[in-house]
Amino acid sequence: MKNKILLIDDDADFVEATQLLLEANGYDVCCASNGKEGFQKVKEESPDLIFLDMMMTYKTEGAETAKAMAADAAIKMIPIILITGAGKEKDFPMDLKTSDIPVKRILEKPINPETLIQVAKSYIGLTGKERREFVGTLDAIVGKWKDKEGNLIMILHAIQKHYGYVPRNVSFELCRLLHVPLARIYEVITFYNYFKLEPPGKNLISMCMGTACYLKGTPQILDEIKNILGIEAGETTKDGFFQLQNVRCLGCCGLAPVMMINDKVYGKVQRGEVMDILSEYTK
Ligand code: FES
Repeated sequence: MKNKILLIDDDADFVEATQLLLEANGYDVCCASNGKEGFQKVKEESPDLIFLDMMMTYKTEGAETAKAMAADAAIKMIPIILITGAGKEKDFPMDLKTSDIPVKRILEKPINPETLIQVAKSYIGLTGKERREFVGTLDAIVGKWKDKEGNLIMILHAIQKHYGYVPRNVSFELCRLLHVPLARIYEVITFYNYFKLEPPGKNLISMCMGTACYLKGTPQILDEIKNILGIEAGETTKDGFFQLQNVRCLGCCGLAPVMMINDKVYGKVQRGEVMDILSEYTK
């Protein structure tokens, strides 16, 4: 069975092109041209993912629709991706903060087709040939660990290694293969910090919380990063660009305070330098 995506957008050209792209990549697609119709379609079609335009009949229609969906117990689990021509918070209406909109990601138009497909895969898993291949891999992993103690954890490790996190749809697949309730799988995932339920950010910021770095100012630098990006440690920005995590000693205490972005180490970091450092990754 194919995964289903609901597109809610009043831009007929965008809808047509996006529908073709998604269908060519193995998804079922249904469409709506405004928030009200979209809400109705969600109930009728039970999509696995929603792409929702921000500005339709009025400027904040996408945000209001997302809030209404999040308040509905029957549909609040469906991930929503907000698409907009005003992707930066500064371009949103004054009283609307992106952190208040219950969406997983915000994608700014024009959207690169590869990015769109990658986001769809991130939130609802693979389709078609790739999915069949992964189910084959999953079958092999399950076969290997089936009768061993602690098998669920080992299998979840393998899934996270493959995806970078444990996608919702893969958890469903695992329920079927292992004959365990979904609640048990989520119990394990949420018990261990190691397991992630969201896709990793494109750039991983690691803040050293070791003693030397802590004493030389990591908390102040961390505050600055949180202020700029609007996320806490353990979270990813809604554009998926940065993920923030705290780590133990990075092994270069002489450079304290130390932060790392992906593989690059920044030593003796000053609070005032943080914006420039982050900007290197957004050029
Ligand atoms: S304490 Fe930060 S690098 Fe050692």
